[in-house]
Amino acid sequence: MTNNRYAHIVMQRCDTLAGFSEEPDRLTRRFATAALRDANTAVVGWMRAAGMAVRQDALGNLIGRYEAEQPGAKTLLLGSHLDSVIDAGKYDGPLGVLVALACVQRLYDQGRRLPIAIELFGFADEEGVRYHTTYLGSQAVAGTLAPATLELADADGITVAQAIRAFGGDPSRLADARRSGDDLLGYCEVHIEQGPVLEARDLPVGVVSAIAGQSRVAVDLIGMAGHAGTVPMDLRQDALCAAAELVLAAEALARDTPGLVATVGQLDAQPGASNVIPGRATLSLDVRHQDDARRQQALAQLRQRAAQIAAARRIALDWRIAQESRALACDPALTERLAQAVGALGYPLLSLPSGAGHDGVAISALTPIAMLFVRCKGGISHNPAESVDQADVGVAIDVLGRFLLGLRTRD
Ligand code: HGY
Ligand code: MN
Ligand code: MN
Repeated sequence: MTNNRYAHIVMQRCDTLAGFSEEPDRLTRRFATAALRDANTAVVGWMRAAGMAVRQDALGNLIGRYEAEQPGAKTLLLGSHLDSVIDAGKYDGPLGVLVALACVQRLYDQGRRLPIAIELFGFADEEGVRYHTTYLGSQAVAGTLAPATLELADADGITVAQAIRAFGGDPSRLADARRSGDDLLGYCEVHIEQGPVLEARDLPVGVVSAIAGQSRVAVDLIGMAGHAGTVPMDLRQDALCAAAELVLAAEALARDTPGLVATVGQLDAQPGASNVIPGRATLSLDVRHQDDARRQQALAQLRQRAAQIAAARRIALDWRIAQESRALACDPALTERLAQAVGALGYPLLSLPSGAGHDGVAISALTPIAMLFVRCKGGISHNPAESVDQADVGVAIDVLGRFLLGLRTRD
């Protein structure tokens, strides 16, 4: 089968997975939902058709294994995530799983085994949409998932443990999901760039140098609900106005600080009636930087600013770090091998940092990681307009395939 054929199958399968959604008119596939179960079922069938032994771990991650030519070989981990954000694009996550699967399929079609074994992961929760903690799946594999995480409740009051059980997993056996790193060569993830650089440089792929650190903060501002018609402006404790000031303060700091990005993606005003002064406002704050010290400094500045805004308005402030992950440099040696594969195929090499988080951050606790970015149109992502060219998917399949062939290490 030609490379183009494998790339075409990847595109078709991204379309198929996009059909598994919690919502009828947009793609939303959160952790441990029926939509994710349907996606897992489809991927299990495709993995088996590629000669892989497949299992689902205690948390709900999918693992397909393609044995080496001989037992006792080292193993390379591949993968990405199968969950999505709300109103997502088709490729953030699934492309990485399906490009890796296409490489295994091609080996299987050729009746070929490598000196290394391959384990392909479909992680169950990278985005953290349901519980606001990213990397649930990959943390379980890395053995770094905090037990307290199991008690987190979603908007419907369902805890992580209950969601895992309902999904067919077993929260009491998460220790079994932890993979030993002893036999590992490393982890490599293919992912859309989710940024404009490869398109601007007219390159199909690039290798990732580092992944930005991120902090996710849950902010509650508690003022005083009141009658919109009778409370004079100077006597108000309007929680939403305080939130609005903080949103713009976050934007201003990020605009003024090189390399810093700050985003308020969620904002909720309570009680939420047009003739009631909001007594409470809840917002999410996402702050990222390639340098952890700069990110922590910005976080401290924003917390101080939030306290000033709250004090000036006689509002109470609750500031809670929901999730943090440090900035991470990809492994130089493994990344060099990936770069060699790009060069061997005749493509110019570009190394670029990732502003987005990826499961590799969690897996780096287990083994060295490398990432390959694929050009995406307009750099658009976390948006249904997300798109990739089939030809670029073909390049990614060839580069990853070449990378696999270059890994000849076995015990
Ligand atoms: O938010 C991120 O960086 C990733 O999409 N989870
Ligand atoms: Mn992703
Ligand atoms: Mn994402």
